[in-house]
Amino acid sequence: MELRIDRQALVPVVQQIVDALADWLRRDEVSPGTRLPSVRQIARINLLSQSSVIEACERLVAQGVLATRNGAGFFVAATVLAVQGQRDLSWSEGVEQQSGLVGELKLGCGGLPESWRETDDLSYAIRQVCRTDMAGLFNYSTPLGLPALRQQILKRLKQLCIEVDESRILTTAGASHGLDLIVRTLFKPGDCVVVESPGYSMLFDLLRLHGVSMIEVPRTPRGPDTDALEALLLKYKPRGLFINSFYHNPTGSSLTTGVAQQVLQLAKNHGALVIEDDVYADFHSGPGTRLAALGIDDNVIYVGSYSKTLSSSLRVGFVVASTDVISRLAQVKMISSMGASRFSESVLACLLASGAYRKLVLRQRQRLSIGREAALQVLEDAEWEVFGKPAGGLFIWARSRKSDYAQVRTQARRFGVLLSCATAFSPTGQAHDWQRINVAYACDPRARAFFQATARDRPQAF
Ligand SMILES: Cc1ncc(COP(=O)(O)O)c(C=O)c1O
Repeated sequence: MELRIDRQALVPVVQQIVDALADWLRRDEVSPGTRLPSVRQIARINLLSQSSVIEACERLVAQGVLATRNGAGFFVAATVLAVQGQRDLSWSEGVEQQSGLVGELKLGCGGLPESWRETDDLSYAIRQVCRTDMAGLFNYSTPLGLPALRQQILKRLKQLCIEVDESRILTTAGASHGLDLIVRTLFKPGDCVVVESPGYSMLFDLLRLHGVSMIEVPRTPRGPDTDALEALLLKYKPRGLFINSFYHNPTGSSLTTGVAQQVLQLAKNHGALVIEDDVYADFHSGPGTRLAALGIDDNVIYVGSYSKTLSSSLRVGFVVASTDVISRLAQVKMISSMGASRFSESVLACLLASGAYRKLVLRQRQRLSIGREAALQVLEDAEWEVFGKPAGGLFIWARSRKSDYAQVRTQARRFGVLLSCATAFSPTGQAHDWQRINVAYACDPRARAFFQATARDRPQAF
């Protein structure tokens, strides 16, 4: 059994073995009960260590794909499709409907791969809280959130030139909770707001859920198109404006200072509330201007999160706004959820105070920067068009020049690559041929093979 293992890839070898074995089971439709070649054989043929092969097989046992029989090696437990049918698929925003197969590469997904996440510091902080902080383990948090965490958030905001005091920071269960509190507290059904297109799909769903109507402003590589925005403000008099400022989802683009100033001025002139969603902020280190830094008064609300860098599972985010808005949001937060998780907040406060979070983020930025450069090169070689080269973050927004939409999807399926959903990033659900490329996945051998194959296709004549 030959497995395609790329030793230069950023994907750990064990994960590559897991994916390759799952791929083999899927393609060859191997029947349940089939015995795998021995670990020694797999290791010898593929120049791998036996311990890596064993670890990969154990992971597949844990997923229910393989089974062990005392001393007799590994067997196929069930077909991969059947196993997948029983599993609770993990949530992946903006990605194609899961095809039901194990081992696909989530090229279009919105977060870091598990293999990039680091456990040591997080485990240490969790143990610290368990050992030393009984309140953190058992009690409700305070309405605004744990003071120790809010002080740390305050320090980070200062670095971004967002000058506030602690009373203007409210912790939330991720940015999603913050956005939900904002929409349900400050808007009512029938209100109209401006959203960016393409933009964050869950925000569109949230606004729909609350009966708030959306008008779309095109996102350019420098931020929202300010001419179009002015026209929309004049014509529709929207109550609010949602902007994802840095390393925008899905285009990877960031607000320039000039655009930030214009957006804020326009919003002020037309009395629209600005909600600045900056969940990718910590991937950013260079100069840059936040809307909130230009004046966080009654007009601007800032939303942040630790999902993208530290853990999406801890569910910690925050909102910064005027004291009046914060107290209204805090009231709804308490009524609807009795506060956020004190445990998660304590763990995060511990990581921020020790400096471990700062170092983690530095490593991630470095790794993403290497991944992004490599991904841009792969895209250039495959003659894909890129929507403004992003300077950082997770995403590149690109489309094939050589293959049409159907061909791109066919090639993706061939190589076990999951793309972003064609309609996810449009507020009106319009399909487009641009793809959100997650740079953390783009250098996997399957992604490279997929991109190369799209360069060989020719658009079909109709
Ligand atoms: C632009 C944007 N805002 C908000 C969120 C939600 O983040 P959280 O996990 O903190 O709720 C995401 C997650 O993908 C996002 O991309």
